[in-house]
Amino acid sequence: MRSSAIAVSGLRKAYGDKVVLDGVGFDVAAGSIFSLLGPNGAGKTTTVNILTTLMKADAGTVRVAGHDVVTETKQVRAAIGVTGQFAAVDELLSGRENLRLVADLKRVRGAGRLVDRLLERFDLVESADKMAGTYSGGMRRKLDLAMTLVGNPQVIFLDEPTTGLDPRSRRTMWEIVRELVAEGTTIFLTTQYLEEADQLADRIAVLNQGRLVAQGTPEELKRQIPGTHARFRFADVHDLDAAARVLPGGTRDDEELTLRVPNDGESKSLLALLSRLDENAINAKEFSVHTPDLDDVFLALTDSTAGGTDTENTIKEKEAVAP
Ligand SMILES: Nc1ncnc2c1ncn2[C@@H]1O[C@H](COP(=O)(O)OP(=O)(O)OP(=O)(O)O)[C@@H](O)[C@H]1O
Ligand SMILES: [Mg+2]
Repeated sequence: MRSSAIAVSGLRKAYGDKVVLDGVGFDVAAGSIFSLLGPNGAGKTTTVNILTTLMKADAGTVRVAGHDVVTETKQVRAAIGVTGQFAAVDELLSGRENLRLVADLKRVRGAGRLVDRLLERFDLVESADKMAGTYSGGMRRKLDLAMTLVGNPQVIFLDEPTTGLDPRSRRTMWEIVRELVAEGTTIFLTTQYLEEADQLADRIAVLNQGRLVAQGTPEELKRQIPGTHARFRFADVHDLDAAARVLPGGTRDDEELTLRVPNDGESKSLLALLSRLDENAINAKEFSVHTPDLDDVFLALTDSTAGGTDTENTIKEKEAVAP
């Protein structure tokens, strides 16, 4: 098993009497991408702040790169890079000067060459000598991330790194994140873009009302959610009626002439459905399998009107319906 780059247990944090983190724990394997999801105000930035030594937790233990964030703050800081939710560039300095400043603070050797390489990698060469204050939001984000990479940190924290980026820049950012991981860097990422977590993350945790309501690979999370179903479309209402009779538990749409039947999507259970139709001489004009995406997962798990237990019950009830 790979060693963990981040190990968190029993994390608690309250602002006054408002509890934000209520016993949060997770583990991030070295060289992997971990994504923390959650609605606005869920406590993602608070978690990042605690893990990066910027803030003290009320309880719990956090080890980053093998060091305790409270008793070995210095070692943790030396091992990490952080891109905050809001860009931390100095607006009065140029992009190049911002990078140079960080490189000098970190006493990086060959700083000039490193700065050139980063400007190139982030497509900032043309604006390198303009004041960062004149940069667009996306350019600032890129400069901010470039600054984070100075000194080759082992563990990088990215708090919503692609918010405000256009699709191309977002993809560039994803490529860079993938390259970093291929080189062995560990990435802790928060994002509002579920597609981003789906694309990048090895593991995802969903934070809601102070607790982690789900953890797993993107695929595992999608499987937990009711909604995987087979969808049949028929030639006429007569066929739809017949199908609804032989495939109980389905939801019909008379206008579309479709029947949605809960199904785990495995070939064996799909075959069972198709055989049922065939045995009854019913032909479907169209047949597809719909798997829930991370948006479905997010909505199901973070529904603010339903507490965690309610959500779990809903999942179990729906699972029970599936054949
Ligand atoms: N310094 C602070 N003092 C008091 N309350 C705070 C402070 N910082 C955050 N909070 C509260 O803690 C909760 C969690 O905030 P946090 O910034 O961690 O959320 P988030 O998940 O990062 O949200 P977003 O998706 O909007 O960035 C919010 O209700 C916020 O109002
Ligand atoms: Mg935040």
